[in-house]
Amino acid sequence: MTTTNTCPVAFPLRRPGQPFPPQEYADFRQEGGLVKSTLPSGVPVWLVTRHEDVRAVLTDSRISSNPSHPGFPKAAKTGGVPSQDEVPGWFVALDPPEHGRFRKTLIPEFTVRRIREMRPAIEQVVNERIDALLAAGNTADLIADFALSVPSLVISDLLGVPKADRDFFETKTRVLVTLTSTDEQRQSASQALLRYLNRLITIKQRRPGDDLISRLLEDGTISRQEMSGVSMLLLIAGHETTANNIGLGVVTLLTNPQWIGDVRAVEELLRFYSVADLVAFRVAVEDVEIGGQLIKAGEGIVPLVAAANHDGTVFEHPEEFDPERSARHHVAFGYGVHQCLGQNLVRVEMEIAYRFLFERIPTLELAVPVEELSLKYDGVLYGLHELPVRW
Ligand code: HEM
Repeated sequence: MTTTNTCPVAFPLRRPGQPFPPQEYADFRQEGGLVKSTLPSGVPVWLVTRHEDVRAVLTDSRISSNPSHPGFPKAAKTGGVPSQDEVPGWFVALDPPEHGRFRKTLIPEFTVRRIREMRPAIEQVVNERIDALLAAGNTADLIADFALSVPSLVISDLLGVPKADRDFFETKTRVLVTLTSTDEQRQSASQALLRYLNRLITIKQRRPGDDLISRLLEDGTISRQEMSGVSMLLLIAGHETTANNIGLGVVTLLTNPQWIGDVRAVEELLRFYSVADLVAFRVAVEDVEIGGQLIKAGEGIVPLVAAANHDGTVFEHPEEFDPERSARHHVAFGYGVHQCLGQNLVRVEMEIAYRFLFERIPTLELAVPVEELSLKYDGVLYGLHELPVRW
């Protein structure tokens, strides 16, 4: 077992002009897998980079997702994972057994069968966005005009949020996932979202509809107070993550057109980009050994899913985009009890978005060279700021 710390490296290592995942991830995997790093918040953490070790971290009961434990890491100086006192119902920040009550209640809403039933509604959302693109001319920013709208409309539908309020959601959730947002901006955005959701839940209590919020209210396992936190988590977790994947996927398919129309591209895109690289934060609550390295109780841990998904011992030639490989065991959605609840929904959203986009706009092309695309280096999620296209 190794107990000596290497000199902390600064993180995130994403830099303009550099490929993602950064080259350093490969070096870390070679050099033992775990490396001591400092987050932009100044907080020291263990970065975990090997596929096997990332899965070990995400399934070890001595490692917690709960930010109320001492030493829980924060990405930026401000913000971070909210505790139950701050946002009751934010269940991604709970450990078993408390976490299980939320998970068990929500799983029926996200099964493959349930999502299959949502297909016509998702197709309608996608088609309406494409109608709007076509009506507006022959150029667009595919992030603002398509990729960000699709997931927020879909999740709004599922929750029973009126479509008219989607601009409000997009603006507020974006503040919450940007590392450079100030404390005040984050607080005001999250309070505005919670106030809105509270009002919506009160309306649904009086007049239930055919939507997730109404069903959860009827079920009663999740309290009225927790409902707004649960709804906010679903809105935020599924918004920019999905949008970034849609955007990056469009670029990849435009530059590798032989894969347009092949549904296998979806799983490989999820592995290849692993946009939620900086999402799963943990803290050791007891001394624990991962990959031969001692992690002491109270030390923060960041399992890097992009590093794990580019581990050459698991994915041959990981730097190649190859939809023919079997990418199913990637960890882009995390692993263990917190593995992404929305993953079945994401797969269908991506598949429908690409299918209709390329079928209905066959002359779609990038309006700038790939090298000039503006990639995100400031947020917790990897993606594109803008995606200028024309047809
Ligand atoms: C490409 C899109 C997405 C990616 C890459 C992604 C990634 C992830 C990851 C890595 C986790 C694990 C976090 C952890 O272990 O701490 C997670 C959890 C979660 N995701 Fe996603 N996600 C995506 C889309 C969605 C969507 C569309 C929804 C909902 C509609 C959603 C809802 C959730 C929820 C509720 C959790 C917490 C689950 C739990 O704690 O039991 N995600 N996601």
